[in-house]
Amino acid sequence: MVGDTPVANTYARQPIALVKGRGAVVWDSEGREYIDCFSGLAVLNTGHSHPRVVEAICRQAGEIMHTSNVYRILPQEELAELLFEVSGGYKSFFCNSGAEANEAAIKLARKHTGRPGVIAAKNSFHGRTLATLAATGQEKYKRDFQPLPREFTHVEYGDLDALEAAVTGETGAVLLEPIQGEGGVVVPPDGYLEGVRQLCDEKGILLILDEVQTGFGRTGTMFAWQGLGVEPDIFTVAKAIAGGFPMGAMLARPGVMDSFAPGDHASTFGGNHLACAAARAAVEVLIEERLAERARDLGRYFIDALEGLKARHRVVREVRGRGLMIGMELTVPGQNLVDAAREEGVLINCTHDTVLRFLPPLVIERAQLDRVVAVLDRILEGTEDG
Ligand SMILES: Cc1ncc(COP(=O)(O)O)c(C=O)c1O
Repeated sequence: MVGDTPVANTYARQPIALVKGRGAVVWDSEGREYIDCFSGLAVLNTGHSHPRVVEAICRQAGEIMHTSNVYRILPQEELAELLFEVSGGYKSFFCNSGAEANEAAIKLARKHTGRPGVIAAKNSFHGRTLATLAATGQEKYKRDFQPLPREFTHVEYGDLDALEAAVTGETGAVLLEPIQGEGGVVVPPDGYLEGVRQLCDEKGILLILDEVQTGFGRTGTMFAWQGLGVEPDIFTVAKAIAGGFPMGAMLARPGVMDSFAPGDHASTFGGNHLACAAARAAVEVLIEERLAERARDLGRYFIDALEGLKARHRVVREVRGRGLMIGMELTVPGQNLVDAAREEGVLINCTHDTVLRFLPPLVIERAQLDRVVAVLDRILEGTEDG
């Protein structure tokens, strides 16, 4: 327990307070040092307090932070140009979080197709607002918040036949994560997303990819869809877009985005000067430091090392992932290992009860990954003994 504070009791918090971070290293309020394999939940792809991002935020804060979208916002236009370039031609709507980006995508799909139905996947996670909860394919998040919007159906992730069978005349969009994150780092079977794209084309349905967790180099390409050769009609991002500054965006092919007219959607803070300055710096760092390629190379190295642990510890059932989005499924609940790793100076996360999730900053060094593997080796040993 962290103490009796007037903060809402919505998080099961770990008993440390991080007060400083640089690259892939963080320090707590007691001065203890940790290697961060969590990145504030896939946010710090460019590392903690990257000097370029810090400089951009400070410079912009000294000029002007916010004016509202009632006026032109030059840093927003510059960021949209940059994203247009790196995505190969998508227009951007800016907001403040992943859930908001998905809400915007759902609204745009409705407006564009005139059909309200969305097919999503079981085991998916798309956010905590009412519509994105309805889209989320995990009952535990939704149970106490009924009724939710009803236009969402859920099919098995990876099963193309099930998806096809779920299509009705009301279906306007299919919404999927390229790799399910919160659901336990689930990589779909080869050819699945290509098949979904083809099905959507045949039926005149929009394909929305939720890249909130997979975006910005995490899986080895700037956006995961670029590594699959599957072009969505709409995709959503947040988390890593602005190097730690809160921001989200919904990107769509121009022919789809242009279905939105002034007044159709808005956000007071969305794409303000400060967020856009931070995002532009973070995206430039990702490009210039070739962090997607780095994620690909380091991901292979890390997965190989984790496979080595699987060979040595029966408690490890499977290692899976792409780039530096990696899951290690255990035969036992993983929370004790999260606590043990933290005691040994390594921050990891457990999702879906039994899956240790590794999402280190893409700037992490090999030597730091080696230290993480050594710590895991020790604590997995203890787990088997216990
Ligand atoms: C795939 C995915 N979509 C949406 C969200 C929601 O993002 P936010 O918490 O920024 O609203 C998350 C958050 O973990 C996510 O992983």
